[in-house]
Amino acid sequence: MDIAFFSEDRSEDAVLSRMANCGDERFKTIMNAVIRHLHAAVKEVELTQEEWFEAIQFLTRTGQLCDERRQEFILLSDTLGVSMLVDTINHRKPGSATESTVLGPFHVADAPMRNMDDNINLDGKGEPLFMSGRVLDASGAPVEGAMLDIWHSNAEGFYDVQQPGVQPDFNLRGRFKTGADGRYAFRSAKPEYYPIPYDGTVGRMLEKMKRHPYRPAHIHFIVSAPGYESVTTHVFVRGGKYLESDAVFGVKESLIIDFPRHDDPARAKALGVGNPFFTAEHDFVLTKA
Ligand code: BEZ
Ligand code: FE
Repeated sequence: MDIAFFSEDRSEDAVLSRMANCGDERFKTIMNAVIRHLHAAVKEVELTQEEWFEAIQFLTRTGQLCDERRQEFILLSDTLGVSMLVDTINHRKPGSATESTVLGPFHVADAPMRNMDDNINLDGKGEPLFMSGRVLDASGAPVEGAMLDIWHSNAEGFYDVQQPGVQPDFNLRGRFKTGADGRYAFRSAKPEYYPIPYDGTVGRMLEKMKRHPYRPAHIHFIVSAPGYESVTTHVFVRGGKYLESDAVFGVKESLIIDFPRHDDPARAKALGVGNPFFTAEHDFVLTKA
């Protein structure tokens, strides 16, 4: 039954009762929760009209900043921990499986296919890295024909798409397909920490919260194979700055790995990298679809 008149006490009921004819049960469930929590938040802090107007201006400006290349709303979701929460709820994994984390805005579909051991560091800048490992199933058997879509920022903290004309196209990205041994390997540069875009509304919010905009050094991976759930994840550099305070809450302990430094000219030569260099080793474990 409709609640005709609005009152502070039953404000949410007045709104919820108007959804009685809504036939989309899932939509109704979601809007029911959103409306109840929104009203509860307004009541809890006794929001002033000035504050609500400021919030509306913030959201308006956030929308105005969005276009095909920039998505300030996703950044807002990321920095409020909502992206990670949605990701985690939707990717509950059994023990050994590789954990997921945020995709982020810098993934480029259809990056070039590379051959195993290729160097994806097209401008040769930064400190050399040799990374390798295997794609495995839950029983530890190698997964043949798995695709690893890899991308990361350069040593100055920028992705190729942020620096067109400065970095070569598809710098520090590429796709690799495993053979029967499930093995992958590539040469690149050691990544560094970098700030998420902070020149918009999200940057202003972080500043006001006295939060920094940095993400700890990481390499992105989407690992997929026919018959398996694909996983969108990163590996993080152990010991790196901001691991405990990632601006988008993407760090999970199982994704932090060692990047040991080596000064070994003979091994560098054998691996096809400059000396000194870093290595990283990590196996990805996929679950059946
Ligand atoms: C990234 O790691 O590329 C990223 C993730 C979330 C927000 C901004 C950047
Ligand atoms: Fe990133």
